[in-house]
Amino acid sequence: MSASIVVGTQWGDEGKGKVIDILASRAQVVVRSQGGNNAGHTVVSNHQTYKLHLIPSGILYPETKCFIGAGVVLDPKDFIGELDEMHKRGVSTENLKIDPRAHVVMPWHITLDGLSEKFRGGNDIGTTKRGIGPAYMDKYERCGIRVGDLIRPEIFAEKALSTGTLKNKIITAVYGGQPHDLQAIIEEYTAYGKRLAPYVADVSVLTDEAYKAGKTILFEGAQATLLDIDFGTYPFVTSSHPLSGGVTVGTGVGPRMIDEIIGVAKAYTTRVGKGPFPTELFDETGELIRNKGGEFGTTTGRPRRTGWFDAVIVRHSVRVNGLTGLAINKLDILSGIGELKICTDYQKADGTLLHHFPASLEELAECTPVYETFPGFDEDISNCQNFNELPELCQKYIQRLEELCECKICMVGVGADRCQMIER
Ligand code: GDP
Ligand code: IMO
Ligand code: MG
Repeated sequence: MSASIVVGTQWGDEGKGKVIDILASRAQVVVRSQGGNNAGHTVVSNHQTYKLHLIPSGILYPETKCFIGAGVVLDPKDFIGELDEMHKRGVSTENLKIDPRAHVVMPWHITLDGLSEKFRGGNDIGTTKRGIGPAYMDKYERCGIRVGDLIRPEIFAEKALSTGTLKNKIITAVYGGQPHDLQAIIEEYTAYGKRLAPYVADVSVLTDEAYKAGKTILFEGAQATLLDIDFGTYPFVTSSHPLSGGVTVGTGVGPRMIDEIIGVAKAYTTRVGKGPFPTELFDETGELIRNKGGEFGTTTGRPRRTGWFDAVIVRHSVRVNGLTGLAINKLDILSGIGELKICTDYQKADGTLLHHFPASLEELAECTPVYETFPGFDEDISNCQNFNELPELCQKYIQRLEELCECKICMVGVGADRCQMIER
């Protein structure tokens, strides 16, 4: 009987999918608590790559139960596409369950995501345009449609008609966009509801029962700490709580269940979309990291912005998530790129050092990163199986990250495959 959370510590895409897949081999239940198909989690097993958006990353283990919690926003069309893809590849989804409280992403959410981004002009957030923000807005406005409604055709038709009518007014009158054909949507989504019905079950109850039966539970975070609606770089964030604290709210379990909280980081930093990024690189090194690291979005294919490891943001993540350990991925990508830098603190124009990530973007804009420099390494480390096999310089780099982040590094990733992970 144990429960662990895995969360992102930077701006997403740290390799959470890979860490979940590895830890899922020792768990019986994997639960998603927030976000939606804005997430893209990659699992590589035996040279086969799986890109998961809503389905939890434990799905490749046939015995593992995979749950989608109440805090997730679910696009049924995309979800069914993912189900079909899994079935085509011989992956069973028999153990997959969705909480009826999860909110449904409707077509007008996607339309409004696009229109509001356009309205923001040069100040756009750079969202994934998956309708995530507008779906969470309706949830908190208390006019959202939940999975439990979607599977009841009459209730769904009534709610879709009333919300859809209002949304069409906003789309046309405020943004000058094209209205949706509500009857066509009701027909299409009622069919999705039928397809989803067998998967719907109370995830809070199922997770609790599994825990009491002595099972190991793994909570899969999506997005990341610096994209958190409160503790991220607001407003350049997502509309949910990717923090460890969000997990218990988003799945309906108590915080006393949690034993371990693992934060995932890359050995450098990346970000997709707009917003501040103090250690961003605009030179050939940044380009080299992007190309070597395959830094292109799993969900949207957009090139990811790249930069040096920023210990200020990871320290912030250690604190706000209460991390018990860190997994550092993609150390292999730093081989052969020359001298390495780590940002240890930020410095303000008046010379003051900032040890903690500031709350306001205005204060952040005044900061420049303070770097520590390391000689580079050229060895291919992708076959290293334990920490002592790593070149001395890599070991020192990891040890320094550990000191600066004030958290134990328990895993080091040296390749995308599930077998390319060094555990300490
Ligand atoms: P997530 O959203 O946090 O699950 O991460 P993504 O899947 O969006 O992006 C991480 C990318 O890095 C994926 O393509 C992974 O296959 C890859 N990856 C993860 N860990 C490692 C690693 O240690 N080395 C290398 N080379 N690739 C990795
Ligand atoms: P995973 O789980 C990286 C970013 C978007 C945008 C901002 C808001 O794969 O790490 P949204 O569509 O959520 O309203 O967009 O958040 N974003 C992510 N960036 N990885 C993700 O998920 C992301 N999910 C959202 O690029 O900047
Ligand atoms: Mg991703």
